[in-house]
Amino acid sequence: MSASGRHAVVTGGGSGVGAAIAHALSGAGAAVTVIGRDEAKLAAQGLPYEVCDVTDAAALRRALDRAIAARGPIAIAVANAGAATSGPLAKAAPEDLDAMLGVNLYGVFHLWQAVLSDMTGAGWGRLIAVASTAGLKGYAYAAPYCAAKHAAVGLTRALAQELGRTGITVNALCPGFVDTPLLDASLDTIRAATGKDRATAIADLVASNPQKRLIHTDEVASAALWLCSDGAAAVNGHALSLSGGEV
Ligand SMILES: NC(=O)c1ccc[n+]([C@@H]2O[C@H](COP(=O)([O-])OP(=O)(O)OC[C@H]3O[C@@H](n4cnc5c(N)ncnc54)[C@H](OP(=O)(O)O)[C@@H]3O)[C@@H](O)[C@H]2O)c1
Repeated sequence: MSASGRHAVVTGGGSGVGAAIAHALSGAGAAVTVIGRDEAKLAAQGLPYEVCDVTDAAALRRALDRAIAARGPIAIAVANAGAATSGPLAKAAPEDLDAMLGVNLYGVFHLWQAVLSDMTGAGWGRLIAVASTAGLKGYAYAAPYCAAKHAAVGLTRALAQELGRTGITVNALCPGFVDTPLLDASLDTIRAATGKDRATAIADLVASNPQKRLIHTDEVASAALWLCSDGAAAVNGHALSLSGGEV
């Protein structure tokens, strides 16, 4: 397993998908640093952490420098931090789009740009974005989020072309609806707008998934672990759908 002995950074590692990926990488022998804004959530993971907002490139640089000083050059960078808003486009302000692009696109851009020299220096690296099926298809009432996730997939595909000869692979994971705190917030919005109970709101969300179920965080973590393996060295520029066949 290629994660063993390597320094892996996971943004948004204090909860949900990011926490599952961080623990999977740690279990595979990586030295993991989790990054997020809420220190209590990060500390609860029991892994080394840095408190930082990934939309702030300079703050992220400082956080990564501290992590590198403690655990060495970064070989695996999982840009997982993300947020989602919902609502009709007619009611969205430009600031709503800025917010979605800030964390879901710029957060990926800043992280990957900051770790590139470590990876090119080593001749090995894994850049992984946790995008979404919203990066591959449109969903109603989620235009700013879909736009930002599509942009993250575009960034992935372009950088994979650019880094093809460096030993670094660049891929996006695109889960459908995952059972996490982010989904809980979306369900609250849907329930407030429609009056539906939680089970009905979930059934509506998974209606277009042939498996009719939420995705588990562990399923996203296993895909991330696989992308870090030597066996996945030829997998580059993919946007891997983890959606039961929805897309
Ligand atoms: N849940 C789903 O249905 C679903 C589906 C497809 C894709 N995804 C994607 O999966 C990723 C993880 O989401 P999740 O579902 O696991 O939700 P989550 O538990 O809310 O995780 C998001 C994490 O990102 C961190 N974060 C948000 N903004 C940040 C910022 N500006 N700087 C640093 N950290 C920030 C949050 O921590 P702090 O608030 O403490 O900073 C949080 O730990 C996201 O990119 C999301 O878009 C989720």
